[in-house]
Amino acid sequence: MISHESRIIIVGAGVFGLSTSLWLARSGYKDITVFDRCAFDKNYYNPSDGCDGASADINKVFRTSYGSRKDLQALALEARDMWLQWDKILQDSPESELPPGLTREDKLLDICGCYFLAEGPTLRSFYRQGLETSAKETPEWRELQFVKGDLEDERRLRKFDAKWTKKYHVIDKINNGDTNGFIDIAGGINLADKACVYARHLCVKAGVKFVLGDPHGKIEHLVVSGSGLSRRTTGVKTSGGRTHAGDLVIVAGGPWTASIVPEAHLTVEATAGTVMFMDIPKHRTDIWKKFHPDNFPVWSYRKGDGDQYYQGGGFPITKEGRLKFGFLGRKYTSFRDHPTNPDLRVSTPRTKYTSDPISTVPLYGLQRMKRVIGQAFPELADIGFTDSRLCWYTDTVDDEMVIDYVPGYNDSLFVCT
Ligand SMILES: Cc1cc2nc3c(=O)[nH]c(=O)nc-3n(C[C@H](O)[C@H](O)[C@H](O)COP(=O)(O)OP(=O)(O)OC[C@H]3O[C@@H](n4cnc5c(N)ncnc54)[C@H](O)[C@@H]3O)c2cc1C
Ligand SMILES: *[C@@H]1O[C@H](CO)[C@@H](O)[C@H](O)[C@H]1NC(C)=O
Repeated sequence: MISHESRIIIVGAGVFGLSTSLWLARSGYKDITVFDRCAFDKNYYNPSDGCDGASADINKVFRTSYGSRKDLQALALEARDMWLQWDKILQDSPESELPPGLTREDKLLDICGCYFLAEGPTLRSFYRQGLETSAKETPEWRELQFVKGDLEDERRLRKFDAKWTKKYHVIDKINNGDTNGFIDIAGGINLADKACVYARHLCVKAGVKFVLGDPHGKIEHLVVSGSGLSRRTTGVKTSGGRTHAGDLVIVAGGPWTASIVPEAHLTVEATAGTVMFMDIPKHRTDIWKKFHPDNFPVWSYRKGDGDQYYQGGGFPITKEGRLKFGFLGRKYTSFRDHPTNPDLRVSTPRTKYTSDPISTVPLYGLQRMKRVIGQAFPELADIGFTDSRLCWYTDTVDDEMVIDYVPGYNDSLFVCT
């Protein structure tokens, strides 16, 4: 049985490890230690500075629409209030009270709008379901969603602010305008790296301890003792050679989860999505202005199904002048021998920072992205991509989150991803 005095170890300080530790600490658990192989206390989750977890990213889509999934929609709306509250606290804090890596100008959630598009004239069923779910469950939020090409919706949108009507048309060139979809002006982007810095700051304030960086924050393997029904995890061993004892080990290792918990390979799999960047030169003020989050929403575009499926999108420009584009119409695995289980091969992230570094992305997605982006934003063609990233998802067998004890360890080992 776990009590408020139990020693709790959390592996991974991405969003799952951070939120788990924050809410455990706020619920009265007193002895929580989070390990991560990345030195987030020094690099502030900066993806250009050695961080390759999914959560360490410059920005992410924040949406309030999830097709027919009203549970996910409810979670998003609950989170939205919290993000806005965090932003308010940030803005009102003296600079000296902010954790390093954050300024008062950083918006953890920027409500720049979220545009969902698909090919052809007929509203894609996933979008239609999203609008229907909103209308049924949360009609006040449905008021903030506007169907593309619907004149009445455009009139409704104009009432909010002229800037929204501009955003409503700013991606009209995708597929030469032959698109359907809607803009959600309650959605936008999270500054993911900054949000993690702030969440970690809250964890520290709530009493959570962190052991970060390679080798002392890197978990080499779990420590397991006993057999049969008494088998349990008693702690973790780090690459630095130290053993830490715990009554409960929670693995929030994202795409590395199966590398740490071999049994998890049946449930989760690391798959890479394609991310491209474009650094806009200072003198291209036209582009800086057009893609500024005040003038430009985050967008995603889908077409086709099965082997032909396309899903990709783009973000507004960052303060540093960086545009990000993603493609997840096809994702990639990278199988290798399991680090502790010789009979097993598991898909394991390979990034710019792993021991066998990779700094390219699959040509398949890149070529398709170029076609869509080149047509929608011809002014970007001359600049071209300036950087790339393989970003590793943790896909699960049924696309649900996995939040549970691992069977066979007498409730001493937990996975959340
Ligand atoms: C390309 C891409 C685009 C995405 N876009 C969006 C989006 O727009 N909006 C959205 O909401 N979501 C998006 N997601 C999903 C979102 O990023 C993830 O759901 C989320 O970041 C997962 O968090 P996590 O904590 O499970 O994993 P991670 O952030 O990957 O964290 C796992 C952590 O475990 C650590 N770790 C691993 N092994 C060890 C070890 N042995 N010892 C110590 N530490 C270890 C890693 O260093 C890492 O920090 C995207 C994901 C990808 C890959
Ligand atoms: C499982 O763990 C509990 C303590 O959490 C212990 O009381 C029980 O004996 C354990 N079961 C076995 C079969 O060892």
